[in-house]
Amino acid sequence: MEILHIHFLSVFLFLFSSICIQSVFSDSGSIGINYGRVADNLPSPPQVVQLLKTQGITKVKLYDTDSTVLNAFSGSGISVTVALPNEQLSAAAAANTSFTDSWVQSNILPYHPNTKIEAIAVGNEVFVDPKNTTPFLVPAMKNVYASLVKYGVASSIKISSPVALSALQSSYPSSSGSFKPDLIEPVIKPMLNFLKETGSYLMVNAYPFFAYSANTDTISLDYALFRNNSGSKDANNGLLYKSLFEAQIDAVYAAMAALGFNDVKMVVTETGWPSKGDENEVGSSAENAAAYNGNLVRRVLTGGGTPLRPDEPLNVYLFALFNENQKPGPTSERNYGLFYPNQQKVYEIPLTVEGLKGASPTMDETEVMAQPPRKLGQTWCVASEKAGEEKLQKGIEYACGEGGADCRAIQPGGTCYNPSTLHFHASYAFNSFYQKNFRQSGACDFGGAAYVVTHPPRLGSCEFPTGN
Ligand SMILES: *[C@@H]1O[C@H](CO)[C@@H](O)[C@H](O)[C@H]1NC(C)=O
Ligand SMILES: *[C@@H]1O[C@H](CO)[C@@H](O)[C@H](O)[C@H]1NC(C)=O
Repeated sequence: MEILHIHFLSVFLFLFSSICIQSVFSDSGSIGINYGRVADNLPSPPQVVQLLKTQGITKVKLYDTDSTVLNAFSGSGISVTVALPNEQLSAAAAANTSFTDSWVQSNILPYHPNTKIEAIAVGNEVFVDPKNTTPFLVPAMKNVYASLVKYGVASSIKISSPVALSALQSSYPSSSGSFKPDLIEPVIKPMLNFLKETGSYLMVNAYPFFAYSANTDTISLDYALFRNNSGSKDANNGLLYKSLFEAQIDAVYAAMAALGFNDVKMVVTETGWPSKGDENEVGSSAENAAAYNGNLVRRVLTGGGTPLRPDEPLNVYLFALFNENQKPGPTSERNYGLFYPNQQKVYEIPLTVEGLKGASPTMDETEVMAQPPRKLGQTWCVASEKAGEEKLQKGIEYACGEGGADCRAIQPGGTCYNPSTLHFHASYAFNSFYQKNFRQSGACDFGGAAYVVTHPPRLGSCEFPTGN
């Protein structure tokens, strides 16, 4: 009787926790990836499609309509956002649709719907294009739309244009968000009208990294990386922001609302964080990139909307799939990728709801027992080189104390006592805690003093536990 009772209870808990997870995730947003190709060493498009499939990614964004790429996505089930490049805007904006008709005939119709083209980005960050293509933008969008209508595909393909955050005059506090006055009448209002009339959405490229890197004295790294922090309250409406990303998104919503567009939706077509940068690109590092992208994915897939639009799911395209070696500019530009060209991960983060279920930091013990964690492959947790002594010390105390990690090996005489440095002992303790918690990504944070690595730490003769 007693045994039956326990079985019944655990089946109940299993169902209950599955249902909870299901319902939490059902209103959630989506994660896609930008597949940029400014490189001479990338895998072939069919290999890339395989890579995306193994990662569980179902949405990509391209920067053109390359036929090899579009053919590779045929029948893949992956939705694709394509682009009409800035160089073609003036032609597309002509007084008639001859150009856009033939563009749609040769760049969309041969592929769609076997290749599921979901949207066309007409231009990219047009307002900051040095060639002053802004006046062509809305006429080009209208012509592309007219051509889609002509060929009967306008209902399945949206048209928009990615806007950089620099289009905002004001973004802090979020409620004061407004567009630059010189853009409003010529292009912002006509574009938002077009988006509204065609049931499309605003595409926004948002990089908290830039704001953080330029304002490290006033913006905390934890706030920029979605880590636990006290947040920032918007004094105008009392809304509390726990991340810079959400504050930036709401500044755009506020800027649209200020022009009377309360109902135009938004897709974040680019966001990311570089794993490497030049000396002056403060904040660029693999551990920060892993924290930003990993926490962003968790936020998007589990967390509902923003404070200003709590019911609007966040739909986000990470930038980018690969490190792109031929991008000009500072070092960071070539180091936004989640993957190296050889398809190895630059760092380990979950990208899907399935990945999060195995890595959720909020599961209580019962749920962990009811739902064996997914095997995530071998990863380890190590202390950051940049973490201060105090954080490392506190982290060790927590991991080996309350956290219940096995720290016997770093006691005097233990197999991992040497080298006897705070940093080494912290790495051992953090990893021990991380493994004990089934390598859930939340278990390797320690206030930002730790990060996940995919190669076994080589530290003296000591062996770090790897879990099962
Ligand atoms: C469309 O416009 C282009 C460029 O302005 C022009 O060369 C072409 O003759 C026009 N086509 C039609 C059908 O009016
Ligand atoms: C999160 O941050 C708040 C405010 O900084 C702090 O009071 C709280 O203890 C932190 N929680 C955790 C779990 O670290």
